[in-house]
Formats: sequence, structure tokens, C-alpha cells
Amino acid sequence: MHSVSIKDLSVSFGSVNVLKDLNIEVADGEFLVLLGPSGCGKSTLLNCIAGLLDISEGQIFIKGKNVTWEEPKDRGIGMVFQSYALYPQMTVEKNLSFGLRVAGLPKAQIQQRIANAADILQLEPLLQRKPAALSGGQRQRVAIGRALVRDVDVFLFDEPLSNLDAKLRSELRVEIKRLHHKLANTMIYVTHDQIEALTLADRIAVMKGGLIQQLDEPLTIYNKPRNLFVASFIGSPAMNFLRGKITGANQDKAFTAADLTVSLATYDAQEPLTNERDVIFGFRPEHITINDKPGPAGLSCEATVDLDEPMGADSLVWLTVAGKPISVRVDSSRRYLPGEKVHLNFNPAMASLFDATTENRV
Ligand SMILES: Nc1ncnc2c1ncn2[C@@H]1O[C@H](COP(=O)(O)OP(=O)(O)O)[C@@H](O)[C@H]1O
Ligand SMILES: [Mg+2]
Repeated sequence: MHSVSIKDLSVSFGSVNVLKDLNIEVADGEFLVLLGPSGCGKSTLLNCIAGLLDISEGQIFIKGKNVTWEEPKDRGIGMVFQSYALYPQMTVEKNLSFGLRVAGLPKAQIQQRIANAADILQLEPLLQRKPAALSGGQRQRVAIGRALVRDVDVFLFDEPLSNLDAKLRSELRVEIKRLHHKLANTMIYVTHDQIEALTLADRIAVMKGGLIQQLDEPLTIYNKPRNLFVASFIGSPAMNFLRGKITGANQDKAFTAADLTVSLATYDAQEPLTNERDVIFGFRPEHITINDKPGPAGLSCEATVDLDEPMGADSLVWLTVAGKPISVRVDSSRRYLPGEKVHLNFNPAMASLFDATTENRV
């Protein structure tokens, strides 16, 4: 049985169609991340699952039950928002217990659930403090705790870390992952941050303009992006793109742009590579190497270094290839000087080709 099923879901605000005929099946215990730029409909989709929004068309099932018209409180979900909205006059303990007290749960049971959540989220030392005396990360842990004490089947997170600074964000990211390992319940997590998506998700749904562009495991999305949008949205530093044509026959099939020719013999094409087709050749900065000597014919070219950008363990080296700037990720122990002549080695097996018109993977 699927934990959450979304069938043919459409949502409009007035005449604007914000979600378009979405279908998603979330497995029991799965961590699904909804990833996309601001305004693509992530929160709208999450709010539909939570029951906070009326839908125009379609149905939503949670644990096999049609909840399309159920109240939020009857759906077995817990939600954590970007703004933690804790009650400022209440202690952490009272913040955690508020919903349970309203629901009339017996006192002993409330205490049991708070002790459990406090243990999992390391909140014990903070229980008697008020929100003003907590750091941003601690407040967000309390907000997660409020969802946790409700003992729900499905957790919904809407950009829970985006108000925190970079260091706290990466710490809490690890805590959320640990929480998922411990609880093993279904989590649907919205973010515009591709690193959060890649590190947390069992599967990522990449969204744009109310449509799902690709729904796959993180490594599939990273290595085999289905279209140019997914390829450019995922990955930091970003994938390199060169515009050109398919040339040659059979084993000599190649990508050609200006003075550059790269053999496509090892490229895993999804359809026949017809000659003269306009394509975009995409390759990640770590899938190309810099060498002092030329590599095998058809996989190597000469290039001149423009800039060397050290990033700690790695450096990003910028060079000009086929008249366009591209970046290569290298070990930072070797520095490159502007104007230095080097040789690049391509790895077409790890590259992506997109049709220049449809922008779909070929
Ligand atoms: N209540 C609303 N009325 C009208 N338009 C809305 C409303 N809520 C969201 N939208 C629009 O719907 C689109 C998707 O919004 P949202 O789901 O919040 O995006 P995201 O969470 O991906 O940033 C945006 O263009 C937004 O302006
Ligand atoms: Mg949003």
C-alpha cells in the first residue's frame, strides 16, 4: 500500500492553473523531496496533502483512505513550516503539549509523548525555557517536536531550514535525516535547495511551473537528467553546456561545436543520434580532467586556462572551449595560471545530450 497517493491533482487560483494534473505515489516510509524554484507550486502541493487548500480536480489518498475532503486534523499528518510560529508566552513543554491538551489527551499520555519527542530531538534541557531564550535551530527543533508528539503517519515539511544560517542548516539537515532513520515514517519535504534534496531524499520530484519534470532517485536525477531544466537546476557548481551538432556515422558519431569534436561512442543514447541534429552537450565539472599531454583522439582537446577558483578541497578551473567558458573541478593541490595551455579529457559516458529544440534528453 502506498502511504500517500496523489491522483490527477489540479489546483487553480482564479484563472491561474498552479498545479497541472499531478500524479505521485509515495511509498510507505519513503523520504520524498519536492524540489523546484520559488513559485513552482511546491507549497501548494504540500498544502493540498495537508488539507489546507481546496483542490480543483483529483484525489488524495493517505494510507489507502480517500482524504480528499477530510479535515486536516483527521488526515494523520504533521506539518512543519519555515516560520516556526511558537507561542512566545509558553515554555517549550507547553508549546509541545498544546495541541494534545486541546485534543483532550490524558495527561499521562501527553507526558509520555513529550518525553519521547524531547529524547529524540534532544530537547530535555530546553523544556522549561520560552522561545525567546532559544536559538533559531532550537526553535525549529521544537517546531519539529510539535509534529512529532502528534504521533502521525506522514510528516510534511515546508522549507523548514530556510530561515537558518548555513551552518545550522547543515546541522539540522543531518538531524532530520537521523530522525527519518529512527522513525521510519513517510516524509514529504519541500525545498528550493538542491543540496538538501540530494542529501535527504530517497526520491526527488523536480518541479517547474506546476508540473513534475522528473521523479527519480537523487543519483539518477544527477547523472541522467531528463531535460535541460533538471540538468541546470541540479548540481553546484553547475553543469557545463555547449551548443552544437551531431556528426559522423556509427562508431564515429560525435558532438561537434566550432573547433571541438567529442566522440559519442560511449554515450548511452536513448534514441538514434541523427546527423546534423542541433543538440546541447552537457557535462559536469567533475566529469572532465585536465592533463599536460593530449588524450585519446576524439576525447581530448586543447584549452587555455582563464581562471582558477580554489574552494578548499577542490578548485574550479575556468577555461575556454569552443569559444565558451566551461568549468572543471580539480584537486586544489595543483594550481593553474591564467593563460596556461592544457589538455582536457572528456568522459562521454557520464555526459548528457539534449535536443536543442525540445530540450529533452536524447
Ligand atoms: N492563495 C493564492 N492565490 C493566488 N495565487 C497563489 C496563491 N497561493 C499561491 N499562489 C501562486 O501559485 C504559485 C505557486 O505558489 P507556491 O505553491 O507557494 O510556490 P512555491 O512553494 O513552489 O514557491 C505562485 O505563482 C503563487 O504566486
Ligand atoms: Mg513555498
